[in-house]
Amino acid sequence: MGIFKKTVRRAVMVREDFQKLPRHVAIIMDGNGRWAKKHKLNVAMGHRQGVETLREVIRHTDDLKIEALTIYAFSTENWNRSKEEVGALMQLILDFFKSEIDELDEKNVRILILGDKALFPDKQREVLIEAENRTGGNTGLTLNICLNYGGRAELVRAAKAIAQDVKDGKLNVNDVNEQTISDRLYTTGQPDVDLMIRTSGEMRLSNFLLYQCAYAEFLFPKVLWPDFSVQDYDEALMAYGGRERRFGGRLR
Ligand code: FPP
Repeated sequence: MGIFKKTVRRAVMVREDFQKLPRHVAIIMDGNGRWAKKHKLNVAMGHRQGVETLREVIRHTDDLKIEALTIYAFSTENWNRSKEEVGALMQLILDFFKSEIDELDEKNVRILILGDKALFPDKQREVLIEAENRTGGNTGLTLNICLNYGGRAELVRAAKAIAQDVKDGKLNVNDVNEQTISDRLYTTGQPDVDLMIRTSGEMRLSNFLLYQCAYAEFLFPKVLWPDFSVQDYDEALMAYGGRERRFGGRLR
């Protein structure tokens, strides 16, 4: 089997195969660089192959009728990578939307960009805004794509919005509660993250969805993101189904 695509198709699961599925899955797609190195390719090829995995994961998430999928595509720290790598990621953003937007829209997927779009070059920013506008009224899977995203920056943004509302007399300080904060995050109106997956064996949250992951179950499959298959995804979803979630309470 070649390195580029898993030509052997194994059975994938359908919604009815699961006793319990998460409503919101979040994924840190880690290991593209190591995959490229392992195959003596440049890092851009690792990210390109990572996008192939992403396509399959989005399709499967939609087939399973999971409500929300959040993917970490570019963090606020990723700007510090080499000019070549950042350039390759910028190109992948354009390529991804060009090739996927029609199918995603047809499938009723709503795309949201989580993060500050202001720092992106004009071309990328326009494509991102266009994708959000075009799919904004869709009612199927919500696909949150984190771009120039940081969890702390998101909380700072929410704190500023709350402070402004208090200053403007729209909000009483005593009425500020957890919901007040949730309502001012990029993910407003969406369920909290139920399952967080980080591939490549790294066990860190890396400033991802800090507030939304408060009660998430975490899974850290060792496989590098470009090799993460739909079957690996099914396995993670099955493992989630087997977890006992207590939300701070006790088992009865
Ligand atoms: C982490 O791997 C991955 C990233 C920093 C970028 C992930 C981006 C994509 C899969 C493509 C972009 C997405 C869209 C929607 C166009 P790493 O490079 O840190 O891996 P390493 O730890 O092995 O070096």
